[in-house]
Amino acid sequence: MEKPNKHLLVCCSFRASGEPQGVCYKKGTGDWLGYLENEIVDRGMDGVLVSSTGCLKVCDRGPAMVIYPDNIWYGGMSGEDDLDAILDAIEDDEVAEDFLIS
Ligand code: FES
Repeated sequence: MEKPNKHLLVCCSFRASGEPQGVCYKKGTGDWLGYLENEIVDRGMDGVLVSSTGCLKVCDRGPAMVIYPDNIWYGGMSGEDDLDAILDAIEDDEVAEDFLIS
């Protein structure tokens, strides 16, 4: 596998011990992984990888996602339309300002 150009790290609230506790997973990020992967394929966004992560420690601004290598932190997305806006921004080499938290 080639190294990704962009890596979307989606918080799924996992903690080192026990069940997911934080806001992100409870707000549906577990379901977002499949949606994002399908959209990336449909859009032909080669080199973009999606992974789940443990708690990103910004729970109060979740659901949270980080885009690397850009180190762009997004939060407060509420569903597929918001994820589409983030993917649109990646395709356009822009930032989805509405969800920027850092
Ligand atoms: S649970 Fe997502 S940032 Fe903490």
